[in-house]
Amino acid sequence: MSTEYDFIKACWGQPVDRIPVWLMRQAGRYLQCYKDVRAKGGGTFLDLCKDPARAAEVSIQPIDILNVDAAIMFSDILTPVETMGMELDFVPGPVFAKPIRTAADVDALIVPEDMAQAVPYVPAIIKRLRVALEGRVPLIGFGGAPFTLACYMVEGKGSKDFAALKQMMYGDFPLYDALMQKITAMDTAYLNMQIDAGAQAIQIFDTWGGLLAPHDFELYILPYAKQLINGLKRKGIPVIYFVKGGGTMLDLVKEAGADVIGLDWHVGLGKARDILGDDVAVQGNLDPTVLYAPKPYIEKEVQRILDENAGRPGFIFNLGHGILPTVPPENAIHMVECVHRLSLK
Ligand code: CP3
Repeated sequence: MSTEYDFIKACWGQPVDRIPVWLMRQAGRYLQCYKDVRAKGGGTFLDLCKDPARAAEVSIQPIDILNVDAAIMFSDILTPVETMGMELDFVPGPVFAKPIRTAADVDALIVPEDMAQAVPYVPAIIKRLRVALEGRVPLIGFGGAPFTLACYMVEGKGSKDFAALKQMMYGDFPLYDALMQKITAMDTAYLNMQIDAGAQAIQIFDTWGGLLAPHDFELYILPYAKQLINGLKRKGIPVIYFVKGGGTMLDLVKEAGADVIGLDWHVGLGKARDILGDDVAVQGNLDPTVLYAPKPYIEKEVQRILDENAGRPGFIFNLGHGILPTVPPENAIHMVECVHRLSLK
């Protein structure tokens, strides 16, 4: 167990010298060097995800540039869905050529028996990164939560309300359940494969979980999230569950059983910690648009969040959602520097 890393220690609720920090979507278009690597290969975004050398290169860029305390492998939550037999494209948002709508569509979905064989580039990226990082920072693997994957698989693309999935969920629960069972089985195998390959923590992104009322979250999301988290080889590997919009139902989000709860900025960090209790760590929750503010304002906001945490162990600083593509990199660098400087004991 790599308990020498502040990031891993914080996941377990252990004391740290300074608060660890990383940024969701920290590899990406706000960095010119990311755009350079993407252009270098000449291919698409999916080609980049499937090229272990270039994918590892862009995963390391934010470690060197921002001085963050964890690396996250470069990929996308939707790449493993291709292995279920669904054709995927990014334009740049994800598009599935044939969305899932009928029982025949669900029946036809494949749950690959060997995920390492189905997406060989993912363990290849992880193994490369573990070597290249030389123990500097731990490596986070990730996947989408079953509900968020279902949103895209049924809608076929991004949406404000994912009405097609809602229709299935409310109108034909057995079909919804059959779909969610298949996704959860694939997801469990996919994340365990990442752990086998060397991922040192796992983050589960439930970007659209907050679309549901708490009552519906309990019926339609929680059972599958619980099954997924319970099915992971968690010995020594902390699991982070990020539900965007989950701040109004933290008791239910906690029930999923993760070691760390990811928070967006719609809930106060102090209030969230009071509700969650001291047996679970939290990660968050700076509004990503604060990175457009002048530097002194960013510093004030970092201090405010540290004050809300009030020295409680089990805290990882992050944005409340992914970094935006037009953020000036120097502001992200400044944010990380502020977290380190202001939290140093
Ligand atoms: O954090 C990291 O640095 C790792 C990389 C990462 C990507 N996607 C790369 C990416 C991670 C962790 C994701 C997760 C992801 N992907 C989520 C969950 C987190 C979130 O942001 O809500 C979701 C919902 C997706 C699906 C997805 N992928 C969308 C909606 C889009 C289009 C919107 C956008 O940001 O462009 C993508 C494309 C995508 N995934 C890009 C990157 C760097 C942009 C593609 C490009 O370079 O042109």
